[in-house]
Amino acid sequence: MNQHQLAETAQALVAPGRGILAADESSSTIAKRFTAIGVESTAESRRDYRELLFRATNAMQRYISGVILYDETIRQKAVDGTPLVTLIEKAGSIPGIKVDLGAKPLPGFPGETITEGLDGLAGRLKDYYGLGARFAKWRAVIDIAEGIPSRGAILANAEALARYAALCQEANIVPIVEPEVLMDGNHSLDRCYEVSEAVLRTVFAALYDLRVFLEGIVLKPNMVVPGMKSGQPASPAEVAAATVRLFKNAVPVAVPGIAFLSGGQSDFDATANLDAIARAAPPWAVTFSYGRALQAAPQKAWSGKAANVAAAQAAFAHRAQMNSLAALGQWSETLEKAAA
Ligand code: 13P
Repeated sequence: MNQHQLAETAQALVAPGRGILAADESSSTIAKRFTAIGVESTAESRRDYRELLFRATNAMQRYISGVILYDETIRQKAVDGTPLVTLIEKAGSIPGIKVDLGAKPLPGFPGETITEGLDGLAGRLKDYYGLGARFAKWRAVIDIAEGIPSRGAILANAEALARYAALCQEANIVPIVEPEVLMDGNHSLDRCYEVSEAVLRTVFAALYDLRVFLEGIVLKPNMVVPGMKSGQPASPAEVAAATVRLFKNAVPVAVPGIAFLSGGQSDFDATANLDAIARAAPPWAVTFSYGRALQAAPQKAWSGKAANVAAAQAAFAHRAQMNSLAALGQWSETLEKAAA
């Protein structure tokens, strides 16, 4: 393990005003996104779409510190034969790779899941390093509903995240540690706080037990928000106050940065909430690691047509710029409207 290299990569991922593009949708998830815009999902259409993102140099060079790829994409070449990884590197961004194999039902715990993918992971990480990956992602999923999450599901997922993180660091790959408490459901903001606190405390205990080097990870959590079906709106100031209070209680300051997931929030909310969190001046670098909140707009603008590539790239650059400003606590609704 090269701690110096790991710390440097982790810091680069959360450098001021830069954040992560999560473009690691599995083939079934990207097929759902493509169906919504009337595009057939094929290896070629997936390549064309991702190539247009990685060639959007305005967005990539200025605002995107790293890109999380799916196994298919890290091996794909652009139309002119250039590996997609090279496009990302040329834009000054760091290639990353999703290495978990998805959340599967946890036996004995109805409605709960355990993320799989530890078997053979050391070998896969070695291959991915050779393909250019310098960071990785593993997503644990915790759902809130009547009677769940259970302690058993939280413990099992925390241990898997810690095993993954230790294996990544051994391969000189920075682990993005993603314990996602889902925003679906009708729970309150307080309930999200309580569950997220239990999850984060358990995850950091597991990371400690497995001797994970905290200066060489990036945490990718949910924000503290009320469930989407709760009908209880929360202002960015309320979300930021709860989120920052939680992290101050549960996350060591040695962690170089927190890169939030968007989790199904609207583009506007994901940006406004990140801005409010950054304005609260937490003791970590905070930024975005957004999938949907960076890609919904360019996907719609593209709609599978070559003639729309420039418009899609502009839509991506716009969201990337707004989220970059938010990560610095310098975004405003006026700027959003002026730039639209
Ligand atoms: P969203 O921002 O769409 O939640 O995706 C981020 C991600 O990578 C989830 O694992």
